Amino acid sequence: MRRTDSLRALVRETTLEPGDLIYPLFICPGQGVRREVSSMPGVSNLSVDEAVREAEEAARLGLGGLLLFGLPETKDDQATGAYGHNGIVQQGLRAIKHSAAARNLVLIADVCLCEYTSHGHCGIVHETGDGFEVENDSSLNLLARTAVSLAKAGADIVAPSDMMDGRVGAIRTALDAEDCCDTPILSYASKFASAFYGPFREAADSAPQFGDRKTYQMDGANLREAMREIDLDLEEGADMILMKPAMPYLDVIRAARDRVGVPIGAYQVSGEYSMLQAAFAKGWLERDRTVLESLLGIRRAGADFAVTYFAKDAARLLA
Ligand code: PBG
Repeated sequence: MRRTDSLRALVRETTLEPGDLIYPLFICPGQGVRREVSSMPGVSNLSVDEAVREAEEAARLGLGGLLLFGLPETKDDQATGAYGHNGIVQQGLRAIKHSAAARNLVLIADVCLCEYTSHGHCGIVHETGDGFEVENDSSLNLLARTAVSLAKAGADIVAPSDMMDGRVGAIRTALDAEDCCDTPILSYASKFASAFYGPFREAADSAPQFGDRKTYQMDGANLREAMREIDLDLEEGADMILMKPAMPYLDVIRAARDRVGVPIGAYQVSGEYSMLQAAFAKGWLERDRTVLESLLGIRRAGADFAVTYFAKDAARLLA
């Protein structure tokens, strides 16, 4: 059954299509800005006008949607830039929805404070005697405000990635109270404290200025706890879940798929992208086949869609 292309196609169990792929964008202030992220070849910080161009190309390629992150003009300890009417992602959302060629794309807005806080943590921080603590409950309010603001600016889906307890419930309540009851929540239900986020923190300028994220993101050793996080987020009203990173956690994606019926996405994160790019640059791996195989593996593990910096490349290969 493997003898010819058509025989192989007939018995193929897993599909991969451009519509299964979500492309992340990093929106920054300015005009005509396209600043490549040094640790992520091919990925750039884009000003709003350039982001619109990128969105139009993504739509032409048939991608499933975009995941938007922002680099604000200024940062402070209350993450004001995350929920302002003129926040950078809010501006990007309005501009993309204004483009006839791009407005049908699904726009997913990442909801987190780390790109907007001066200290780079995903919530409000206070000092303790011997260090600092990220305050779970006082951060919920700001996350909920951020989600509402992004939904009002045009986000089709909001995606909380902060890993504070109770944020899905807080966001759902706030969305419903503010006339955004049709906006679904894609929760990063099981997000592990991972070294593979390194390049992203350069891309989003969101590296913590002190400490690390191990007190709120999950321990990489824990699969049962990941299932508990998923159950809690669904109870609080999550409509779909995102698993992250992908390649080192394919077993967790499979376990989630076998457990819940909601749509599942998996995030092939920055470090997964950068290590493959490095191997391509060295000539150690064959680019096209490796890109598609890495994404097929994520689909086979049980993810309905993949968030990937290779989305445009993969769509071209699949065309
Ligand atoms: C925000 C956030 C991060 C990523 C997605 N949302 C960084 C982090 O948690 O440190 C990582 C994505 C990637 O590495 O591509 N909290």
